[in-house]
Amino acid sequence: MTIKLKKQTTEILKVLKKKGADVSAEDLASELKIDYIVLMSAINDLIYCDLGGFKEEEIYQISLNEEGMNYLKNGLPERQLLNILLENNIKEISIDDLLKRSNFERNIFYISISNMKKNRWAAQSKASGENKIYLISEQFPKTQIERFLQKFEPNPIIDYSRISKDELKQVNVLNKRKLIKRIRKTQRTIYLTEKGKKIPISKIKELKQISKITPEMLSSRTWKNYELKPFDVTKPGPLLKAGKIHPLINLINEIREIFLSMGFIEIRGPIIESAFYNFDALFQPQDHPARELQDTFYLNNPEVAKLPEKDRVLAVKKTHENGGDSGSLGWGYKWDENIAKKTLLRPHTTATTMRRLAQFYRNKEKVPVKVFCVDRVFRNEKLDKSHLAEFTQVEGIVIDDNANLCELIGLLSEFYRKMGFKKIITKPGFFPYTEPSMQVSVYYDKLDEWLEMGGSGIFRPEVTYPWGIKEPTRVLAWGQGLERIAMPYYERTDIRDFYINPIKWLREQSYLK
Ligand code: PHE
Repeated sequence: MTIKLKKQTTEILKVLKKKGADVSAEDLASELKIDYIVLMSAINDLIYCDLGGFKEEEIYQISLNEEGMNYLKNGLPERQLLNILLENNIKEISIDDLLKRSNFERNIFYISISNMKKNRWAAQSKASGENKIYLISEQFPKTQIERFLQKFEPNPIIDYSRISKDELKQVNVLNKRKLIKRIRKTQRTIYLTEKGKKIPISKIKELKQISKITPEMLSSRTWKNYELKPFDVTKPGPLLKAGKIHPLINLINEIREIFLSMGFIEIRGPIIESAFYNFDALFQPQDHPARELQDTFYLNNPEVAKLPEKDRVLAVKKTHENGGDSGSLGWGYKWDENIAKKTLLRPHTTATTMRRLAQFYRNKEKVPVKVFCVDRVFRNEKLDKSHLAEFTQVEGIVIDDNANLCELIGLLSEFYRKMGFKKIITKPGFFPYTEPSMQVSVYYDKLDEWLEMGGSGIFRPEVTYPWGIKEPTRVLAWGQGLERIAMPYYERTDIRDFYINPIKWLREQSYLK
């Protein structure tokens, strides 16, 4: 049987046969004066014909850094100091004087002094009233560390495996003195299989393979003389480092598409909100810790917010004081307009939802109304791997006659199903503005875990009646954390990654989404 190989692959096979032993890929490439990549592609051809292969091994090496190289050339700084003393026949000298003569930086100078003392070359004393250095030896043989340093002269890179136990101590000293670099790399060793060792070169025919056909080849018909290299579409192409849309924006756009496809319309609202829309309209009592519960950032500037039409403010006021016409008893306290005028950075997009209810009232709209909002919110939170102080909520409402919990669960399930989460679970929850309230979690199969995504519920009559939304018309509402969704979606375990932007991860992102 004959085997067809490219000319260069045959050459490499010849060299390997001659050597009769395994060789490191790097050595082989430099010996043959070819590119490492060219060599490995030839080895791939050998693997394909079962003639050879390669093994991979992690190797650890050390080399001197720039400072280390400098000392290899000029001697360690303690030796340089010593030489200054010997050359000038100095037996004692003040520290300041020696510092000046050495031209060393302060920290290197003091390290050198301390090493001179350690080597028992010199002693330091203030006995004369001055801080002085005294030579205390006649002979100054090479120290262990100096002898070890010398090893780098013939070979600038030393394999860890070739370092003896004793020498390891010197490596530690050099490391502490920050004079070495550690190198970790994967070494490939090339070998021949039994078949590769046995096959006579005469059995190998030249493979003329091309990966491109030129117009000349076509017109002269010479392309017929070649074999065409098959495309391997499973091999990754070269990494393209160009700008692309941020993963979070891609996700937001996908969420938009999903809600739009389900018949929803997008709404936006101001980031600087009034306490009125953020809390009062949501039936949160003015003295209730719920207002602090969300760790709201209140603002000094602008100091007061504009409230909506007087009669609606009055309707909200009455609901708080005695329930208004909602059938509730209200909270039974005196409602204060000034508290409602406070300004804040919205801690949830439910404030924007409330503005939509106000608009519904103003325009005397008809049901059903289906809207969603994907926007930024702010909370005074400590940052950690699952909390941000600035994040994004995916909010939505449906205003419809006889809207019910079953529909709400159906809607959320459908949304998450389209996002790729097959199962959701809803559990009883609490929000001051919904009754019943539900916590929404999705099943994340990769980790076999339920992940909490946000809240939902049906707005209480106290929330909807002031805006003319009365039984049997109800409002289904939800607010989910976008970054919470993004974590399993992009398989990130730290929520801060979406804002810290690890460059490696961003580069791995697809251009196509
Ligand atoms: N506003 C709630 C939050 O920020 C979410 C929510 C919205 C709950 C609508 C119920 C209804 O967590």
